[in-house]
Amino acid sequence: MSSLIASLRPTAQMSPVSGIVEVFNYGRTREGLIPLWAGEGDTPTPPVICDAATKSLSDGETFYTYQLGIPPLREALAEYFQGLYERSFVADEFFVTCGGMHAIQLAMQLTVGPGDEVVLLSPAWPNFAGAAIIQGATLNYVALEHGDAGWTLDLDKLFDACSEKTKVLVINSPANPSGWTASDAELRAILDFARAKGLWVIADEIYGRFHYDEQSPGSLAPSFQTIRDPDDRILFVQTFSKNWAMTGWRIGWIQGPAELGQIVENHIQYNTSGVAPFMQRAGIAALKNATDFAQGQVDRAVEGRRIVCDTLDRFPNVRFKRPAGAFYAFFSIDGHEDSMATAFRMVDEANIGLAPGSAFGPGAEAFYRICYLRSADGLSEAMQRLGRWLEKQNA
Ligand SMILES: Cc1ncc(COP(=O)(O)O)c(C=O)c1O
Repeated sequence: MSSLIASLRPTAQMSPVSGIVEVFNYGRTREGLIPLWAGEGDTPTPPVICDAATKSLSDGETFYTYQLGIPPLREALAEYFQGLYERSFVADEFFVTCGGMHAIQLAMQLTVGPGDEVVLLSPAWPNFAGAAIIQGATLNYVALEHGDAGWTLDLDKLFDACSEKTKVLVINSPANPSGWTASDAELRAILDFARAKGLWVIADEIYGRFHYDEQSPGSLAPSFQTIRDPDDRILFVQTFSKNWAMTGWRIGWIQGPAELGQIVENHIQYNTSGVAPFMQRAGIAALKNATDFAQGQVDRAVEGRRIVCDTLDRFPNVRFKRPAGAFYAFFSIDGHEDSMATAFRMVDEANIGLAPGSAFGPGAEAFYRICYLRSADGLSEAMQRLGRWLEKQNA
């Protein structure tokens, strides 16, 4: 380690490399590669959203803005959630951030520091861990179990893992990468436990609309929104990225008790000093005028899930269960347990980009993640390439 790096604070030195980005950087310039590694589709943001941003800029909205978000956006968020969950929401609970990642980072800043522990369910999207580590907190992973019923959570294991040091439970449901989706009863049990122990819950329900319940097609995933009280210690981290194809914009929000407003405002002031007004205008347009587009994203995921899962089912050495939520297939391949090495090989030999399971914490090293929020043609071609590659390995 260079003396320059050694002179940084230890938590900065410990910031982990994202395993997804490693493979992404390796293959990003390959001609014709079909990228399935990132959590995004191939559809650009619709014009109705882009036009609102352009108009804001040409109207001269180029000045410093509200730290917590412009009032009409916070109101639009409250209305949007009211429509989804049929309970009342107020604008004061919404704090606009530079994307879901920044919402997670702020949520960690607000709740943990050195000596504190964050409990996570693994496999987990790596950025939760990264944000906690940067804060100097320690991680305690509770492994989801993988069996005939897909990924499941043993609640006792989760509760037993919590100690005096635990300050935060991260509950990502539907989960990236596994698709694990908590039941209503599980969420109630977790909330009761968090209340009894005085823990904060960082609730990541960004995939809440991507829920595949055969009994109730089109239903939202179970949510803390329907069972919480206003003063529960829950910070919802959220984003415009997925429902409205806005991954490159970097706009999201935290939803939490309105009483936290001043503290969150202070933190936003010293982190980013707010989100550009033109992006916030785009956010309003997304919430109010892009309802069909957001539904189209869900329909696209339903079709993508069908294509990818039907094909994976035909490969004898691939193990997986259909995900209940989110838009990823997460599977293992017999004989290819080193997912990082294999993901690099798939770039070179099959011209497809998969995210290696090793990026998603303990227990996922032998798995691979495919994002299926993509056009049917691209996905079918990618699955053919994967099939040909797998056949060659067995030949
Ligand atoms: C579970 C989860 N939370 C949060 C995010 C952050 O989204 P963004 O930073 O693009 O808003 C992602 C992105 O992939 C995610 O998968």
